[in-house]
Amino acid sequence: MWLAGNSIGKEFVVTSFGESHVKIVGVTLDGCPAVLALTEADVQAEVDTRIPRDLKITSERIEKDKVTIQSGVFNGFTIGAPITLTVENRDVDSSDYEAMKDLPRPGHADYTARMKYGGFNDYRGGGRFSGRITVALIMAGAVAKRLLNQVGVDVFAYTKAIGNVKFDKSLTYEEVRSGRYKTAVRCPDMETAEKMEEAIVTARKEGDSLGGIIEIIGANVPIGVGEPLFDALDADIAKALFTIPAVKGVEFGAGFKAATLKGSENNDAFQMIGDTVGTLTNNHGGILGGISSGMPIVVRIAVKPTPSIAKEQQTVALTTMENATLKVVGRHDPCIVPKAVPAAESAVAITLADHMIRAGFIPRVLKE
Ligand SMILES: Cc1cc2nc3c(=O)[nH]c(=O)nc-3n(C[C@H](O)[C@H](O)[C@H](O)COP(=O)(O)O)c2cc1C
Repeated sequence: MWLAGNSIGKEFVVTSFGESHVKIVGVTLDGCPAVLALTEADVQAEVDTRIPRDLKITSERIEKDKVTIQSGVFNGFTIGAPITLTVENRDVDSSDYEAMKDLPRPGHADYTARMKYGGFNDYRGGGRFSGRITVALIMAGAVAKRLLNQVGVDVFAYTKAIGNVKFDKSLTYEEVRSGRYKTAVRCPDMETAEKMEEAIVTARKEGDSLGGIIEIIGANVPIGVGEPLFDALDADIAKALFTIPAVKGVEFGAGFKAATLKGSENNDAFQMIGDTVGTLTNNHGGILGGISSGMPIVVRIAVKPTPSIAKEQQTVALTTMENATLKVVGRHDPCIVPKAVPAAESAVAITLADHMIRAGFIPRVLKE
């Protein structure tokens, strides 16, 4: 049997639908607790963070996304029924994709999708494999974040690196949280953000693209979230993050660096913080044995450089099966990272919401 993979979560089930150039992109949330205050404006505010209004560093496709709540909300509150949220695709230009449809873009999903679906995949704008689909994740994340806020949990992401430009100043979580959307690259430090922007502009001028690193923080997550073995919290967060196109690596806490440390350096010593047990350091990234420890969840993703680049690349013409060359034209992001920040935030938020409902931290019916 062929099991489709468009849903994620066990109690807070997120089902994504839509393609890049069809009428709508949307999401259905089943299992959202009742009596959560929710308006279109709440979801709209999160969707508005998706596209930095700076054409120097993004694609020229600027969708003026207007969120519609299609179901599941009555008199401003969720009713425990499936919630469907949609936006329309309006700024669609499929012309460039006709010329390229038999020339798979290196690094994109064109080739694998064509082979898997027998040539019937919607190739326009990358179809189901477009970054555009992350708007569904962001709408789901908006609801998840409101649920998490009910129990004091906050999730926020920001840009840690773009190409070789790294943000390594120490800011408080509050400074990161409040500053992250003030710059187009989604880095809370103005000086580093300018350097990141310059690096993207230079790559674009060279007909090339850049990748980067995003860090996501889950603050105030209580101890005991996560269902070992196979639904370990870190496993499920990693899975959700890997659904974002172009994500190629996920690490928690010290991550890959932990492999180079000694046990004595990597272990986070326990200590009393007020009347609870905490750790002196957070190399474990807030998760031990697949269960939240009460320390902040710290997770980073590696985002690859945008596959569609103007530089000439080698490919194969799938009509003649001969080697060919390709210069990708059309509207593409020279760097995916800024747009992936709210998507990453949402991926972690929907996973935490699902697990916190499962473990009983969030009740099925909230109090008004
Ligand atoms: C927000 C976002 C925007 C993206 N924009 C583009 C783009 O403009 N051009 C492009 O070639 N790929 C873009 N991508 C990446 C491709 O969708 C992705 O690389 C492709 O589907 C292959 O999947 P994989 O990289 O996860 O293997 C974007 C991804 C995201 C998350």
